[in-house]
Amino acid sequence: MKFFVDTADTAEIADLAATGLLDGVTTNPSLIAKSGRDFLEVTKEICALVEGPVSAEVVALDHETMMKEAEILRKIADNVAIKVPLTLDGLKTCKKLTDDGTMVNVTLCFSANQALLAAKAGATFISPFVGRHDDNGFDGMSLIEDIRLIYDNYAFDTEILVASIRHPIHVLESARIGADVATMPPSVIRGLFKHVLTDKGIEGFMADWAKTGQSIG
Ligand code: E4P
Repeated sequence: MKFFVDTADTAEIADLAATGLLDGVTTNPSLIAKSGRDFLEVTKEICALVEGPVSAEVVALDHETMMKEAEILRKIADNVAIKVPLTLDGLKTCKKLTDDGTMVNVTLCFSANQALLAAKAGATFISPFVGRHDDNGFDGMSLIEDIRLIYDNYAFDTEILVASIRHPIHVLESARIGADVATMPPSVIRGLFKHVLTDKGIEGFMADWAKTGQSIG
């Protein structure tokens, strides 16, 4: 499963990219607002920090204007994936862009039928929002299971990008189901490294090593 980080914070992205475990980045208008940076400038900087796809979202709601915005965004770098909302105009834009060879991430997906439409529109990625689904009394992970089943039934190439991840269990479940990508806030990625028994084990080994009075090298 690929790991994307869901942020526009370039310091966090650079730090996580240095682990060699980061496969891409997702942003959205809220994350750009939170960064306080110019959208095009920060997107260009992010694209230089990672080799994999960097999702940049259009803000227009109609197809013609989405295409104009996508035209500007896709010129930023070869690894830009245009993010469009799961609406009729969004999927029309998705079809046109993917037919041209541009990567498209269809976002704000909350049903398996919506995911089926996105795959038929040639989406590179579908982003079902599991956390927001859970927040509203639905089962986010069962949505991922349904999408996996449908995509496998018809051999769709669209990658399932699990979004709105809130905690490591969402990541574990995504991997069990066979999702292609998980996009996570930096805190969730950092949390994956942690285990209380790892910390305790290191503490014990360090204490015993100190008793030997030795050093390496
Ligand atoms: C993904 O592409 C979205 O930007 C993101 O995962 C949304 O997460 P949120 O529900 O925590 O805002």
